[in-house]
Amino acid sequence: MVGGTPKRGAVSDNAEFRFTLNGRECTVTASPLARLLDVLRDQLGLTGTKEGCGEGECGACTVLVDGEAVNSCIVPVCQIQGGDVVAIEGAGHEAIQRAFLEEGGAQCGICTPGMIMATRAYLDGAHRAGAEVDATAIRTALAGNLCRCTGYQKIVAAVASAAGIAR
Ligand code: FES
Ligand code: FES
Repeated sequence: MVGGTPKRGAVSDNAEFRFTLNGRECTVTASPLARLLDVLRDQLGLTGTKEGCGEGECGACTVLVDGEAVNSCIVPVCQIQGGDVVAIEGAGHEAIQRAFLEEGGAQCGICTPGMIMATRAYLDGAHRAGAEVDATAIRTALAGNLCRCTGYQKIVAAVASAAGIAR
């Protein structure tokens, strides 16, 4: 075995992590450096969160941690100890999902869960700040989420619809 047996206390040792997931207390045993994406999909069976690039570049794996949109493919599970995680299977973004459906904001669907979670983080933040939501702000907010199918126009329309504004 390359590198020999890991020393006691090495970062590869499994440990227990507790956090809130979609409103419920959750405990997992995993390597501290396990990707949150893998913990969600492989350990907890929440396969709605998708993997695209796996390098923090495409946003397909976006979830909320303490209300902020994060790329779960580059977040180790140790960083969410005690945190509040919301994935696409959770509640609170039904209106956004409906808007994507009605506006045709999804085609192949790989980017869609990440788009919806990023939209939720954006609209929640805009609402808290009383910030104006318009097409330019939407495009800026979703700049970290890539879509190879839609050309973005219908995604912007969906976000605008979810925000209740004219586009
Ligand atoms: Fe995480 Fe692309 S899969 S950013
Ligand atoms: Fe296919 Fe966005 S709908 S990548």
